[in-house]
Amino acid sequence: MWLTVHKCLIVLLHALVAVAIKERQNVLFIIADDLRTSLGCYGDATVKSPNIDQLASKSHVFLKAFAQQAVCAPSRTSMLTSRRPDTTRLYDFKSYWRVHAGNYTTLPQYFKSQGYTTMSVGKVFHPGIASNHTDDYPYSWSIPPYHPASFNFEKKKVCKGEDGRLHANLLCAVNVSEQPGGTLPDMESADEAVRLLKRGAADGSPFFLAVGFHKPHIPFRIPREYLRLYPLEQMTLAPDPDVPKRLPAVAYNPWTDIRKRDDIQKLNVSFPYGPIPKDFQLRLRQHYYAAVSYVDAQVGRVLSALDALGLARNTIVVFTSDHGWSLGEHGEWAKYSNFDVATQVPLLFYVPEVGETYARLKASTFPFVDVFSRSEFIFETAEAIENVVELVSVFPTVAQLAGLKIPAPCPDVSFQVELCTDGMDLALEFKPKKKINREALAFSQYPRPADTPQAGGVQMRMKLQLVYLTAGLKKAP
Ligand SMILES: *[C@@H]1O[C@H](CO)[C@@H](O)[C@H](O)[C@H]1NC(C)=O
Ligand SMILES: *[C@@H]1O[C@H](CO)[C@@H](O)[C@H](O)[C@H]1NC(C)=O
Ligand SMILES: *[C@@H]1O[C@H](CO)[C@@H](O)[C@H](O)[C@H]1NC(C)=O
Ligand SMILES: *[C@@H]1O[C@H](CO)[C@@H](O)[C@H](O)[C@H]1NC(C)=O
Repeated sequence: MWLTVHKCLIVLLHALVAVAIKERQNVLFIIADDLRTSLGCYGDATVKSPNIDQLASKSHVFLKAFAQQAVCAPSRTSMLTSRRPDTTRLYDFKSYWRVHAGNYTTLPQYFKSQGYTTMSVGKVFHPGIASNHTDDYPYSWSIPPYHPASFNFEKKKVCKGEDGRLHANLLCAVNVSEQPGGTLPDMESADEAVRLLKRGAADGSPFFLAVGFHKPHIPFRIPREYLRLYPLEQMTLAPDPDVPKRLPAVAYNPWTDIRKRDDIQKLNVSFPYGPIPKDFQLRLRQHYYAAVSYVDAQVGRVLSALDALGLARNTIVVFTSDHGWSLGEHGEWAKYSNFDVATQVPLLFYVPEVGETYARLKASTFPFVDVFSRSEFIFETAEAIENVVELVSVFPTVAQLAGLKIPAPCPDVSFQVELCTDGMDLALEFKPKKKINREALAFSQYPRPADTPQAGGVQMRMKLQLVYLTAGLKKAP
């Protein structure tokens, strides 16, 4: 008798847990690479980003979000562990935090520990030793991370130049069917993400799917039709295209990575300040914008699949980037600095409650928007938030939105603490018409090997440049 009751209770308990798990929200975490806030929803009048703008129109949009360091591996490691670079001890690409800093629990690892199936597509963690050559699998992910095979050709001589020969160019707008494999990395990643969403829809358990797109990171290897959206005669230079006379030398980075590309080498640009010829600057900006539209289309494909599978009703969507990029502002073509064009990122949270209201009015939430067949896009931002915020806050925010416990704030010294956060819950900022908090602070840092720009500037030893930003600094009331 007791045994039966006991058994029944256990069965009931299992059923309850199953229901609870079933009703939990999924998470779709999308991260672009080197994407600054050149998006329609951030007020950029040149770029065409209809799918991300459509997502923004149903999301909480942070207008002033900042990365903690404007380079991929430190920023990603910081965001995904919710610790600052000084606690991950990673300012470059050369160490794994679990070995060199502390055994920190990551955002996907936390979801995995709470019963989620966690999956990674493309560039989420920085590859290589920074994530132990496995994207932190198996700690962070339920299944081995996926990488698009065509990425192996990214830096190869695959760009047809004006001479008809193949080069390893910076500007690399291609005929996709002529590329090895007949595809490009972000197209492959979008395909894989759609496949995993289908699997997630079929399988009852909640999922955390991270999708990392490689563009608009250099080289601009993109389908060449996207250039048509940006006729050269309509392109303009950066508003401040020259290196300021009084710029402290330590603030400047000499963009050594783009100098290595074949087409830039041919220009014989002088070191360290350049400049790059004006006509080439226009083409460079054209290619960056085209790369953004290309990524936007891949985001659109993933979101429309989410929608078609009925998952937009119970999936939180986060969209962000690891940091920005200077598109010729103050003579720079790089991340690697503390200028706001390099540290500021897009940051959107779609939470189904917000979307549902819209979904009741419209048949679908995220229909694919074809940038080539629509000339005008007007999307209102559902909710724009002006407060200055930081990427270390993504972890506690996503946890809170999904109904998980927010990790405790980190103590001053937290190397021994596996789970804690240096960020805050940004959902507290979601309240409509919240007053701007002029005390809000973002903290970005960048190491320099010396006081002056160095050709081999990769071995970034100390000389920390620190920048604080507050809401009050950026905009008059
Ligand atoms: C680090 O954390 C993981 C996951 O909690 C655990 O499996 C592993 O044993 C830990 N490693 C060390 C060295 O503490
Ligand atoms: C890193 O990867 C190596 C090789 O696969 C493995 O032996 C090692 O345990 C991993 N490090 C950690 C901290 O898990
Ligand atoms: C792209 O390449 C394929 C294969 O070489 C060719 O058939 C096609 O015409 C090319 N497309 C364009 C727009 O040039
Ligand atoms: C490249 O530029 C430098 C000056 O910046 C000049 O001295 C040199 O002759 C140039 N080389 C070529 C091949 O144009």
